[in-house]
Amino acid sequence: MNKTENIENFQKRIKRTIFTKDQIDEKIKTVGKQISDSYDGAPLLLVSILKGSFVFLADLCRAITVPCEIGFMCAQSYFSGTVSSGEVKITMDLDRDISKYHVIIVEDIIDTGRTLNYIAELLKSRNPLSLKIVTLLDKPSRRVVNLKSDISLFTIDDYFVIGYGLDCGEYYRNLPFIAEYDESMQ
Ligand code: IMP
Ligand code: MG
Repeated sequence: MNKTENIENFQKRIKRTIFTKDQIDEKIKTVGKQISDSYDGAPLLLVSILKGSFVFLADLCRAITVPCEIGFMCAQSYFSGTVSSGEVKITMDLDRDISKYHVIIVEDIIDTGRTLNYIAELLKSRNPLSLKIVTLLDKPSRRVVNLKSDISLFTIDDYFVIGYGLDCGEYYRNLPFIAEYDESMQ
C-alpha cells in the first residue's frame, strides 16, 4: 500500500464526527470549574487511566485552577476486535501512597464498566480520603457491572468511538475530535 492509499484507508473509517473540539472544550471548562469549586484547598490527585485518557487529562487538568497532582495507571482490558473480553490487568501502577489524597479517576470511556470497576475497587482498598470518577464518555446501555461515574461529560449510544485519545488498534488517538468508527469497513 502506498502512502496515499494508506491515508485514504485510515480516513474512510472515520464515519462521522460526534463531538467537535469546541464542544469538548466547553464541557471541560464547566467540569474544571466544578472540580475546582469542590476541592478548594484539599490535597487532590488526578489519576489518569492510560492510554485512552491522556488527551482528556491534559485538557482537564489545565481547566482546574486549584493545586493538584497527577498520577498515571495503565490498565489493559483485553479486546477481540472492538469487543472487550472482561479481563483486566494493571500494567503500570501509581508511584505513591494515596491515603492522604482526594482521588479523582480520569477515564476516557466507560463501556461495560469492568475496567473501571476493577480499578476503583483497587484504589478504594488503598483508603484515599475520597474517590470520585470523571469520565469523558459513558455508554450506559452496555454496562455489565454496577458502576456509575460521578461526572460524565457525554453519554453516547452503543457504537465504537475513536479520537481525542480513544483508539482502534492503537490508531486514531491523535484525532482532535470524537468520531464514530466505521466497523463495516474491511
Ligand atoms: P470497559 O471495561 O468495557 O468499560 O472498557 C473500557 C475500555 O475499553 C476503555 O477504557 C477503552 O480503552 C476501551 N473502549 C471501550 N469502548 C470503546 C470505544 O467505543 N472506543 C475506543 N475504546 C473503547
Ligand atoms: Mg483502548
